[in-house]
Amino acid sequence: GDCVTTARAYPNIALVKYWGKADETLILPAAGSLSMTLDDYPTTTTVTLDDGEDEFRLNGEEQLGRSADRVTAFLELVRGHARVAGLDTAHYSARVVSVNEGPTAAGMASSASGFAALAVAASAAYGLDLDTKELSRLARRGSGSASRSLIDRFAVWHAGDDEDSFAEQIDAPDMAMISVPVSTGKKAVSSRNGMVATQETSPFYDAWVSSTEVTLREMIAACAAGDVTRIGELSENHAIRMHAVIAASQPSIRYLTPASIAVFDEIAALRAEGIEAYATADAGPNVFAITRPELAETVSARLAPLATGEAKILGPGPGARLIGDG
Ligand code: DP6
Repeated sequence: GDCVTTARAYPNIALVKYWGKADETLILPAAGSLSMTLDDYPTTTTVTLDDGEDEFRLNGEEQLGRSADRVTAFLELVRGHARVAGLDTAHYSARVVSVNEGPTAAGMASSASGFAALAVAASAAYGLDLDTKELSRLARRGSGSASRSLIDRFAVWHAGDDEDSFAEQIDAPDMAMISVPVSTGKKAVSSRNGMVATQETSPFYDAWVSSTEVTLREMIAACAAGDVTRIGELSENHAIRMHAVIAASQPSIRYLTPASIAVFDEIAALRAEGIEAYATADAGPNVFAITRPELAETVSARLAPLATGEAKILGPGPGARLIGDG
């Protein structure tokens, strides 16, 4: 075939985290979440319609097994939409070629940028004309957090049913994040499996969900008020709560290492000196500092010695979009 489309998407870091599902198949979250889309570590994905089997190459290597299965299942969903729309592209398979700049090697692999780029590239390749809301709903089916990478700068992903669970932009003050990689190892438990374990075995799970709803309302208010201090405090506390509910799973799951905790402590030490910074971490050991843009260089210089890779200053970035089509 000669239908070729390319899209680029960036990872996002949640300030109010998503951890737990109301529906496993539709990937509906148990609570809403809020994130900043980053301006670095992009994934660029090209989809070419073809005959034969679906193919997925990531950073030059043919993928087999679980990650290829997730891509094929996602392509099936896109072909289902094409079939409903009466498009004959629905008969074609797809060759998916993705390049992920940095995060995989830095241990900050993001399924968010991957499925956001795939949603945009594949829907265009198959001839679907989806708006941002529909693309966010589609990306959600690949990976929940991918729904937020469709959005420029700051996004709220709503809990709800299949129709209303999508991300949309929210106004927030300019902020900087500093990535502090402390490990390059692959994580022991995937987010997908870790969430199930937490839901099924952590006695704090219900409190986690209900308190997240409260924190989300407080975070939305802090964003509207442009209150970076409040945004930072809420973010750090919510991240700590997520790692606590996860740690309380039976058997226990722990994503943070002593090196991660050292970064949290250094960020607290900066605050004690009057340099305002806050810490967050996803389902892995790497930490992100949240700070004001004018403090980013100072905070980065202080955290760089604790990092095993490059500590990078990141700003709010663009939502997923096509960068070319054929
Ligand atoms: C800790 O979106 O990767 O980063 O929906 O099962 O694919 P699935 O999970 P995923 O989980 C992300 C979890 C998190 C928090 C967040 O990004 O909100």
